[in-house]
Amino acid sequence: MQTPIIAPSILAADFANLEREVKMINASEADWMHVDIMDGVFVPNFSMGLPVVEAVKRHAKKPLDVHLMIVNPERYLAAFCNAGAHSISVHVEACTHLHSTIQQIKALGCQAGVAINPHTPVVQLENIIADIDLVCVMSVNPGFGGQKFIEHTYRKVEKLKKLILDNNAHAKIEIDGGVNQQNAKLLLDAGADVLVAGNFVFSSENPIETIRLLKAIR
Ligand code: DX5
Ligand code: ZN
Repeated sequence: MQTPIIAPSILAADFANLEREVKMINASEADWMHVDIMDGVFVPNFSMGLPVVEAVKRHAKKPLDVHLMIVNPERYLAAFCNAGAHSISVHVEACTHLHSTIQQIKALGCQAGVAINPHTPVVQLENIIADIDLVCVMSVNPGFGGQKFIEHTYRKVEKLKKLILDNNAHAKIEIDGGVNQQNAKLLLDAGADVLVAGNFVFSSENPIETIRLLKAIR
């Protein structure tokens, strides 16, 4: 099994000390920084907007993995790309013309991802899987950090892995929500490539060590 890609979610960081938190991630074994954007419409919460992403980008030495939990994401793709996104994931539930939205992300030079809510079956990705770089599998209902991991995610990851292999696709599987030391190994065994972790990292006594711990799981 390959070394997992670890993406701490800055939603769980101390926003009053964001520069310090970003520098902590820089100094750690984390691979990406996961950036959650919420609009209060697609999800019942707000998080951060473009000025915060730009500020994070000024200090970040790791790629920004932007997760758009917003309606009409196609309106803001260029803005998030210009703010410094390396990858942009849009929700399948928020995109009427998903194929077109994915092509727009790629044309901007970003990696293109699709996120799916817990109730959305993997089969919905059948006609887009070969075009994307990343699938963000929500293992909690999006909108809040610190929620309990939904157990059916393992089965979903196995199905998704099969879909990727059957289509000769290269998309990475990212797990987002409630990831911790207990479920990480099972998720990697099921086929996950990227682990997002918010509270498990930022609420721990030693976040750098917690990131190291996740990175060492095989
Ligand atoms: C939830 C977000 C997640 C969240 C994960 O809507 O998409 O990225 O920050 O946080 P934890 O790891 O605390 O569940
Ligand atoms: Zn997220």
